[in-house]
Amino acid sequence: MSRARFDPSGPLGGAYEPPPDKSISHRAALFGAMADEPVTVTNYLDAADTRSTLEAVLRLGAGVEERGEGTVLIRGVGLHAPLETTGGRLDVGNSGTLLRLLPGWLAGQPGGEWTLDGDESIRRRPVDRIVTPLRAMGARIDAREDRLPPLTVHGSPLHGAEYELPMASAQVKSCVLIAGMLAEGRTTVVENRVSRDHTERILARSRVPFERDGLRISVAQVDELELDAVAVPGDPSSAAFIVAAAALVPGSRVVVRNCGLNWTRCGFFEIARRMGAVVLGDLEAPGDFSPAEPVGELDVAHAPLVATEVAPEEVPAAIDELTLVALLGAFAEGETVVRGAEELRHKESDRIAAVVDGLAALGADIEATGDGFAVRGDGSPLRGGTIDARGDHRIAMLGAVAGLASRDGVEVVGMDSAAISYPDFTADLAALLG
Ligand code: S3P
Repeated sequence: MSRARFDPSGPLGGAYEPPPDKSISHRAALFGAMADEPVTVTNYLDAADTRSTLEAVLRLGAGVEERGEGTVLIRGVGLHAPLETTGGRLDVGNSGTLLRLLPGWLAGQPGGEWTLDGDESIRRRPVDRIVTPLRAMGARIDAREDRLPPLTVHGSPLHGAEYELPMASAQVKSCVLIAGMLAEGRTTVVENRVSRDHTERILARSRVPFERDGLRISVAQVDELELDAVAVPGDPSSAAFIVAAAALVPGSRVVVRNCGLNWTRCGFFEIARRMGAVVLGDLEAPGDFSPAEPVGELDVAHAPLVATEVAPEEVPAAIDELTLVALLGAFAEGETVVRGAEELRHKESDRIAAVVDGLAALGADIEATGDGFAVRGDGSPLRGGTIDARGDHRIAMLGAVAGLASRDGVEVVGMDSAAISYPDFTADLAALLG
């Protein structure tokens, strides 16, 4: 397993562009594959997770032409077409998003059968969350112990249903909406809290009739998708590691360019700002919706941090960055508490355990709670030490940032897992450290 050291550093400075958005890249490839006409995707993320999606759509009969510099042309098979690939095994690798979204499409292909499987971590990720609503729509699906991958989808005719999400999950919402495009009648998803809305935005751009009314989202059956080109913005979840590093290392100032500023993704920037970090930028206003994804700049600088409380309503818009809130909390004055974040237990690792054990090993005063964590700081830096990424890309990158801001440096065990979402992370960090 790869080990990497990150020693206390001087300030980060300069302009920076985050890698392309992972969530939007997955959707661009999947919607491109479901479209009738070829779709050009620019700034597609070249990382392990989004490669798994390109390979999956290739196996389902779509054409994938990589034209360099992140441009990928997808020649779709149409909404109803991947039947000739029946019997196929689809390897989702480490990607929970591919695991949860793709069955929505496959479930509505009568006569087809596909098995989805992935790496050791994916085999621990729950799929009953998509099996339950898909079955309510008429799908036939088998899963190990009825809740874990491998997952076999036997395509069948679907009918519309109304489904109330028991948890805030954009993956489950997206799966049901995709299946809804193939289902007779109308399909409605009722969210308990607003989660990232990239699927709704790409549905709108694909000219699929759908409606949003507060937390209710409905989609009707369609024959085809009409999707023009997709330009993928920079990933705010990847940028968050650089933003956290700039917030923590004294003297830092970084300008983040071409960053996605969709409000359903920017919760961490708001929380960091509240903790005292200087994070300036035109974040999309909460509640806004446009078919196009908003993109812009952030100007970030170090400042002394104060503790904060993160309420359950704030969790979905910061779900992948909550471990960074713990890191900022370890450097802040006072007690930082995150509540309503039990979903973190079902990510690439149990992120509550990974961050609590990981930061405690670096000297933080942190403990797990039933639905999150509490961390206390006195405004001084963490000591440092060794952190185990547990095969989780976001924990690996958190360890690196902790090292730069620590007193003695941090060794990250399993740094290679950063390649799941952000292969150039270490190089981008080095460039900002000059
Ligand atoms: C994602 C949704 C979130 C997030 C994941 C990507 C997506 O998962 O944690 O990294 O692209 O829809 P959940 O929907 O399970 O919360």
